[in-house]
Amino acid sequence: MDAIVAVDLAWGIGYQDDLLFRIKADLKRFKEMTMGQVVILGRKTLQTFPGGRPLPSRINLVVSRNQSLVLEGATVCHNRAEVLATVAQYPDRHVYVIGGSSIYREFLPDCQRVYVTRVHHQQQADTYFPNLDQLPEWHCVRSEPAQEENGLVFNYLVYEKTNG
Ligand SMILES: NC(=O)c1ccc[n+]([C@@H]2O[C@H](COP(=O)([O-])OP(=O)(O)OC[C@H]3O[C@@H](n4cnc5c(N)ncnc54)[C@H](OP(=O)(O)O)[C@@H]3O)[C@@H](O)[C@H]2O)c1
Repeated sequence: MDAIVAVDLAWGIGYQDDLLFRIKADLKRFKEMTMGQVVILGRKTLQTFPGGRPLPSRINLVVSRNQSLVLEGATVCHNRAEVLATVAQYPDRHVYVIGGSSIYREFLPDCQRVYVTRVHHQQQADTYFPNLDQLPEWHCVRSEPAQEENGLVFNYLVYEKTNG
């Protein structure tokens, strides 16, 4: 299981239930990476998608405590155990944790890799990803050159967890 996240310089990921940045190249890369795979997301993050609908052509596992929630195009999981049991039904798919903050925190211990898009700006934020540079088990193993889109400078990083 891996996570994908876009962070600002302070590891901020969202403000008032929305993303901090919308970078077309990053959204395209996200789509290419997750296409056909399993994505795990919180119910609040689902609401930020166009029409509040699950991502097409992916197996969407939406996490919610609401027992009566039914979603077209997604499987609703009510707790961590249900998510892990459902993921086990797709052994041939890659599994990506795609947010938001509460879901990243809950599933980071299950992740081996985190694909970080680091935006070289600091934005007002109210939700954060754990600062991987401060967690001893996580190491940045790849850092791609900076790119720019509409004045926003960003680069792609890969963090991996060491096994002990
Ligand atoms: N920068 C990025 O890459 C990125 C990616 C994704 C999201 N975001 C941002 O992150 C923010 C949303 O994050 P968030 O933490 O507020 O919300 P979230 O993690 O998307 O969703 C929270 C909801 O998930 C459900 N949930 C969480 N833990 C659960 C558990 N253990 N068992 C059952 N259900 C559980 C609950 O749903 P119910 O209330 O239905 O019970 C909870 O209200 C937004 O600003 C969004 O734009 C940023």
